Amino acid sequence: MSVPVLTIDGPSGAGKGTVSRLVAKKLGWHYLDSGSIYRSLAVALAKQSVDLTDKAEIVKIAQTMGLEFDCGDELVVKLNGEDITGQLGLESTGNTASVIAAYPEVRQVLLKKQQDFKRPPGLVADGRDMGTVIFPDAENKVFLTASAEKRAERRYKQLIEKGIDANLSRLTIEIEERDRRDMERTNAPLSMARGALFIDSSEMAVDAVVAEVLDLIR
Ligand code: DC
Repeated sequence: MSVPVLTIDGPSGAGKGTVSRLVAKKLGWHYLDSGSIYRSLAVALAKQSVDLTDKAEIVKIAQTMGLEFDCGDELVVKLNGEDITGQLGLESTGNTASVIAAYPEVRQVLLKKQQDFKRPPGLVADGRDMGTVIFPDAENKVFLTASAEKRAERRYKQLIEKGIDANLSRLTIEIEERDRRDMERTNAPLSMARGALFIDSSEMAVDAVVAEVLDLIR
């Protein structure tokens, strides 16, 4: 039996995580937060103070790290048995993830780990290359974006709510830098998959985006 897949790609902070989680819940499907796989590798490297230019060492750690995902209401990730969920959301983790994600060898190692999430009754996969590289045959594809200013504003609010100090103009610069790196890399850059539904969420409420995505599936 073929397992249906919905891919939701887009830049950081566009709301992919929130939307994907809600859509997966509505459909009763599994959810893959592919960014958290790159982020987990970033945490593993930070723990061992690995030099980010040492590709061979990074690939070795990507191959041997033991990851366990519990994708319930709240994502819980264990790295070699240790709960690292709290470290996944750090800005430094996201920035390191973006740097190592540009290495083709790293992407190759992580490819199967992501494809393994495809299980009945269906999968919602969120990332940068879900519709272009990881699940090119997916029946339904979405490209979700928002302006860099809006994305930085949302991120700022999230951080402040969590009691983490943040600076809006610095966040905007970091988001633009991350967009550039994710879009300009040669291997699996962030791009809209052919046939994907384009949604700009800058002026949309989450519920409206979820409704539009569910309409696509139905
Ligand atoms: O979605 P995120 O912010 O958690 O992703 C963190 C970084 O991981 C992102 O800047 C680029 C990389 N990434 C990727 O290259 N491909 C994916 N499918 C998901 C994330």
